[in-house]
Amino acid sequence: HQAEANRTDLMTITRFVLNEQSKFPESRGDFTILISHIVLGCKFVCSSVNKAGLAKLLGLAGDTNIQGEEQKKLDVISNEVFVKALISSGRTCLLVSEENEDAIIVPPSQRGKYIVVFDPLDGSSNIDCGVSIGTIFGIYMVKDTNNVTIQDALQPGSKLVAAGYCMYGSSCTFVLSTGYGVNGFTLDPSLGEFILTHPNIKVPKKGKIYSVNEGNAKNWDEPTSKYVANCKFPQDGSSPKSLRYIGSMVADIHRTLLYGGIFMYPADIKNPNGKLRVLYEVFPMSYLMEQAGGQAFTGKQRALDLVPEKIHDRSPIFLGSYDEIEKIKELYEES
Ligand code: AHG
Ligand code: MN
Ligand code: MN
Ligand code: MN
Repeated sequence: HQAEANRTDLMTITRFVLNEQSKFPESRGDFTILISHIVLGCKFVCSSVNKAGLAKLLGLAGDTNIQGEEQKKLDVISNEVFVKALISSGRTCLLVSEENEDAIIVPPSQRGKYIVVFDPLDGSSNIDCGVSIGTIFGIYMVKDTNNVTIQDALQPGSKLVAAGYCMYGSSCTFVLSTGYGVNGFTLDPSLGEFILTHPNIKVPKKGKIYSVNEGNAKNWDEPTSKYVANCKFPQDGSSPKSLRYIGSMVADIHRTLLYGGIFMYPADIKNPNGKLRVLYEVFPMSYLMEQAGGQAFTGKQRALDLVPEKIHDRSPIFLGSYDEIEKIKELYEES
């Protein structure tokens, strides 16, 4: 049967992406090459994360070396690996990273048609205590490879051609959508390959879990406060929801995709735009959530319809199960 067959007929991520691309006769495999370079970056980060505790013990990271120069932190090293892998793929023209203040315009000789926006290491405050962290990315297409400007990265999320994340957790999981649903792959360390383990992920329509930093409750707006109050003291006689908050967006979203519920980083009095960055946190996760049958809402509009003005713009975000986001939308309409 199927499980038996899968053991000998391995659907690697490269094979999967090649299959998807073969639906497009004009495809020349550029996207497959791009994804394989992103996957390489993720494998590097995965192995570094696994060694992080050990490296610290041996005085290799987050420390001062013999020359007295400060060792680079994991998020800085991860960023360098992704930037170099993406440029050397020859398939990118513009890169936006959380770790770089300015967008990187790829030199003409190494240019391709894809724009990649990414957060090389998300949840970095969780590194030192061994809690799950991740990498998030979104991919756009450029209009004209001969004329690339920062403006090309300021496209609404609805224009993404693909998005995904890799979670460095109890196992290393790569989740990808190219606009035809969401699929999850797990790294088999003995093969060094991501194998399809979560085909066609659909987020449950309803959810029993809410995920938010409740320490900010004092400063929330009314719709957020009302929603969370109702999670704890439901007015309709239903059971209260469970609270789960890891503080790594990748891990909180991964759980939401698989188990359902809602993840939110709302606006508050001090941060009217919330905390999460539009291009490389809000957009990729909103794209995946919609592709999995859920919704993503900013408090004002569909998240993917936002048009960022600057590359590091932030936005409040509510995303998850379809029915939970409907409730949030109603509360904002009433307010
Ligand atoms: P990063 O580590 O890339 O800067 O992002 C951290 C983000 C995100 O992963 C998480 O959802 C959020 O920060 C948590 O913020 P709080 O600590 O304010 O809850
Ligand atoms: Mn982040
Ligand atoms: Mn980060
Ligand atoms: Mn950061």
